[in-house]
Amino acid sequence: MQKAEQLALADRLLDYIDRQTLQLSDAVYSQPVVEYTDRAQAAREHTALFRHQPLCVGLSGDLPAPGHYATHDAAGLPLLLTRQENGEFRAFLNVCRHRGARVAEGSGESRGFVCPYHAWRYGLDGHLVGRPEEAAFAECQRADHALTPLAAAERHGLLWVHPTPGQPLVFSEHLEALEHELAGYGLAHFQPFSTRTLRRALNWKLALDTFLESYHFCVLHKDSICAIFHHNLATFDTYGPHFRLATPRRAIAQLRDQPREDWQVLSHVVVIYVLFPNVVLVWQGEQVELWQIFPDAEDPARALLQLTLYTPTAVLTEKAQAHWQRNLDLVLRVVENEDFPVGEGIQRGFTAGAQSHIVFGRNEGALAHFHHTITAATQS
Ligand code: FES
Ligand SMILES: [Fe+2]
Repeated sequence: MQKAEQLALADRLLDYIDRQTLQLSDAVYSQPVVEYTDRAQAAREHTALFRHQPLCVGLSGDLPAPGHYATHDAAGLPLLLTRQENGEFRAFLNVCRHRGARVAEGSGESRGFVCPYHAWRYGLDGHLVGRPEEAAFAECQRADHALTPLAAAERHGLLWVHPTPGQPLVFSEHLEALEHELAGYGLAHFQPFSTRTLRRALNWKLALDTFLESYHFCVLHKDSICAIFHHNLATFDTYGPHFRLATPRRAIAQLRDQPREDWQVLSHVVVIYVLFPNVVLVWQGEQVELWQIFPDAEDPARALLQLTLYTPTAVLTEKAQAHWQRNLDLVLRVVENEDFPVGEGIQRGFTAGAQSHIVFGRNEGALAHFHHTITAATQS
């Protein structure tokens, strides 16, 4: 985020604090409960949102040097992410072209991949470079049996993949506008500290809803983050389907005593970017959290969440390790013990027939924007 934009953001937030209000949308929004429970809706979302547009699958630091690779399965697809010898990010389906076994597991560093079933060997670039009993496959050209590539791009420290083979990555103007802002964070230099995978009994949208308002901060989180952040107070800005929320820490009041040119605005806010449809990037002043939130392939009432905490520099000392671990523990404690149990209760309640719609208040504009965009994308 550029300096002028940071100052403008601080001005808006300090004004809201003075007036004890926040940005209000024009009207309340009525959200159909069925969109969280219905299998047909889940199938439409799978097609429209998770197979036909770019997915953000990580940050550059996940593949720190040539030869690094990482498997990625949360999208319901076996993805193989690689850093080529020339530094380029490339992605493949993690599917052997002989009989379909996975050619890689986990993450690591390698010059290529050997299928564990019959030992077909692939280069880091996906080419089939060798196979036992070559003569038995004489009519099947090796050149025609490379790993299936997926369109992939690395932009401003974000890794993007198109999940459908043969489909090109097309980035909208909206995303480009958002990336312009994200470029200011230097995301390419952040390094992964730790990744956690969570499986919870709630629709993926309900998991994402958790991040979209601060109206619950001093109620649900009264004993945790209420002391740190202002309650029911945030800016909300859209970039087409993508959007940004900024919530001030209580310490933002200190800015009033400092010369404006010295304001370190980003130390006093948590900035949440939703990279539509399913990625939440949280800027916390020093660390970056990347939440990838996916629907369960079978059950609309289940979600798979992958959280990676990234640090601005390598974690080299025990003291630094303990510091980042405390930060990660706080994030996990709040969402796992406070947010998601409520979400799971909501999901169970959705099937009870209490109501056909839930309501998002005028102070919950990001929720309205998110769900309106999903409804539009899955009905067209
Ligand atoms: S399935 Fe990979 S070598 Fe046979
Ligand atoms: Fe929360």
